[in-house]
Amino acid sequence: MENNIIETILSNWVQTGFTKAFPDLDTETLQAIDVSAATDERFGDYQCNAAMGLARALRMAPRAIAEQAVAALPEQDWVQSTEIAGAGFINITLNPERLADHLMGIEDHAQLGVPAFGQDRTVVIDYSSPNVAKPMHIGHIRSTVIGNALDRLHRFLGYRVLADNHLGDWGTQFGLLILGYHHFVDQDALAQHPVEELERIYVKSYERSQSDAEWLDQARRELVKLQQGDPAHQELWQQFVELSLQEFDKIYTRLGVRFDLVRGESFYRDRFADIIATLQKVGLAEESEGAQIVRLEDDGLDVCIVQKRDGGYNYATSDLATVQQRIEEFQPDTIIYVTDERQQLHFKQFFTIADKLGWQTELVHVWFGLMRLPEATFSTRQGNVIRLERLLDEAESRALEIVKQSSPDMPEAQQLVVARAVGIGAIKYADLSQNPQSLVTFTWDKAMAMDGNSAPYLQYAYARIASVRDKYGERFPGQDPRQFPLSLKEEAELRLAKRLLRFPSVVLRATQLYRPSILADYLYDLAQTYSSFYQNLPFLKAEEGVRESRIRLCGLTARTLRTGLELLGIETPDRI
Ligand code: ARG
Repeated sequence: MENNIIETILSNWVQTGFTKAFPDLDTETLQAIDVSAATDERFGDYQCNAAMGLARALRMAPRAIAEQAVAALPEQDWVQSTEIAGAGFINITLNPERLADHLMGIEDHAQLGVPAFGQDRTVVIDYSSPNVAKPMHIGHIRSTVIGNALDRLHRFLGYRVLADNHLGDWGTQFGLLILGYHHFVDQDALAQHPVEELERIYVKSYERSQSDAEWLDQARRELVKLQQGDPAHQELWQQFVELSLQEFDKIYTRLGVRFDLVRGESFYRDRFADIIATLQKVGLAEESEGAQIVRLEDDGLDVCIVQKRDGGYNYATSDLATVQQRIEEFQPDTIIYVTDERQQLHFKQFFTIADKLGWQTELVHVWFGLMRLPEATFSTRQGNVIRLERLLDEAESRALEIVKQSSPDMPEAQQLVVARAVGIGAIKYADLSQNPQSLVTFTWDKAMAMDGNSAPYLQYAYARIASVRDKYGERFPGQDPRQFPLSLKEEAELRLAKRLLRFPSVVLRATQLYRPSILADYLYDLAQTYSSFYQNLPFLKAEEGVRESRIRLCGLTARTLRTGLELLGIETPDRI
């Protein structure tokens, strides 16, 4: 497949004009000249603003620079016209025939023109990663949903992806939990609602540790005993892990999320001592009050404790061991971690240490703000637990109301299936359509809105488009719209076609910037553009040829919406 990123094609083209007009400019400057989607569509489809930045170097007025560069441009079949505007902006309008040819060329392409950009590259994506014996709460949904979208995007671009659910199964909670278990366990409750009972024990033990220093100390001792391999403690721990995993798996199944690896921190524990030894050997770790620390003040970071006074290992040590194992086993180009914003310092610290150890793999922390409901932020410890499961239940039951209204004649079993797709889709989209680094306030009205930027809106738009194709089939049985070419004459057709052309660069940008919201924004815009196309032009009543061309556009729009939503992990039922 040719490189279909239109911005790349146009940037290369514009660079040739600048090179010819200004041969003295250095290569680096020339290669930095680029073309991007126009900010105001009235002036063109794409624009190049390079002339303004070159005025000083060339000692010329930007407008004159633009004029000379444009005059030196060779023919380009993608371009219908170029125009210089204002201070020296180069506005580019696409050639409708070339655009139509291109779109016909990707109709059969499984990837809709998206190149296999990630071929021969490996990424590990560490996401979801809940903590054992604490229920997965709403805060965890962001990591699961954003991480899964990044996972799907990378696979689509041809990367080899290892999705790793890095369970918190070796943390300090086990000291409190084991101690709490010996004092408070209710065996009947444990048999009936294992994770709820574990949570109750944990919360009770945690609360006591807040006011009882002796209790906290005892919990620390239990933890060390577990970490040193005490068999009874190990057995209990194993039981906690299994019970929690069963519960987490129910949620992953509902969310349509699967992992290549489910390895907890415990998987790496045999490496912890070695990591400390290595850090000491290269002079990175030093003793301080009985603990082992790495000083990072020169890097503008706090001291990082890698081993506690009681011998226990810290989060950073466990993450360093994990990186080491991943490098040995998978040789990844990049490891991506998806967690909430509160862990930023932790990631900066161990990324810096990994760098000092000379480890080459690129390490990326994709963080997101906490999700807030109007009432409060979620936290397990404060007991204000609104479980993810309950949130999903409510989403599905609200979606069922929508489906019952829009398709009263649909069989009930099917209504339930559709409601599941719409409800889960709404939750995911509410999350993915936001800039992940902003604080998200979740409201049902916004998430379920049939007339706004929501999954139900996009799913409904998709179903409507699919129904247009069905109607065409009924009215013109046996007729293949591809007997007629795609032709772009009307403004509304052109606008839609230009949106479709952008899909590859949107997917690429969403992946490279780790921002699924870029794709969500695009899909919403595409659905709106389609809707004005559909409302302003006749379809089935248009004359032969025009009708088929529109049906083809309609088909491409449906596939683009479907593929895009799939990349966000959102299903597209044919009817809602
Ligand atoms: N278990 C952690 C938590 O729930 C997240 C782990 C993220 N991954 C990592 N390699 N540190 O807060």
